[in-house]
Amino acid sequence: MKLSHPLRSVVLALLLCPTFALPQGLKPLELPVPQTSGGKPLLEALKDRHSPREFSPQKLSPQILSNLLWAAFGVNRPDASKRTAPSAMNWQEIEIYVATSEGLYVYDAKANRLDPISAEDVRAATGTQSYVKDAPVNLVYVSDLSKTGRASGEESLMYTSADTGFIAQNVYLYCASEGLATVVRGSIDRPALAKVMNLMPDQKIILAQTVGYAKK
Ligand SMILES: Cc1cc2nc3c(=O)[nH]c(=O)nc-3n(C[C@H](O)[C@H](O)[C@H](O)COP(=O)(O)O)c2cc1C
Repeated sequence: MKLSHPLRSVVLALLLCPTFALPQGLKPLELPVPQTSGGKPLLEALKDRHSPREFSPQKLSPQILSNLLWAAFGVNRPDASKRTAPSAMNWQEIEIYVATSEGLYVYDAKANRLDPISAEDVRAATGTQSYVKDAPVNLVYVSDLSKTGRASGEESLMYTSADTGFIAQNVYLYCASEGLATVVRGSIDRPALAKVMNLMPDQKIILAQTVGYAKK
């Protein structure tokens, strides 16, 4: 049986580090069916897109989280092989990890589910700026370079960075449409975060993105 990357990370972590916090009690979170119509007209969302950096601790509802992840990189065609953001050669190599106060999950777009990775609250480790720990959700965009085929190291990094940018912009536009606050972030201690997330060597953290409600 070939394990998906996030599962391989957990198995590897258990073998190498017996103290790794198993997501005990954390079950896969089945997300509500995403709402795929409505919202602000595109041009209004573009007008409102910006990067606030002060977040209220107010949580996102399961419905809003589901909508957000669908907008980011959900399945948008009936055959389930294509997504809301393009990717070079349709690699679909970007995995969206979701860090909340309850733990760390990874988004399974086809199943519309969050799979648990760790029961730890790792929000503070997802960035170097203090606001990351206050916001209810930090998305971490991880590229699975094992899916980038025979592209050279430089080429796959360039393409995978571009692929991440499309997802991040989808999140910006969804947030602008729904009155949520978001900021995409490159300022991350990547080696430290990769360790906390138990990533495999070919899983690279590209960017993170904080999402929540603006502090009033
Ligand atoms: C690739 C990239 C990395 C960024 N990294 C950070 C970051 O680490 N921390 C931060 O507060 N903002 C970060 N930003 C947000 C930019 O600072 C912000 O988009 C810019 O100042 C323009 O502001 P606006 O988004 O409100 O138009 C990043 C943006 C991009 C595109």
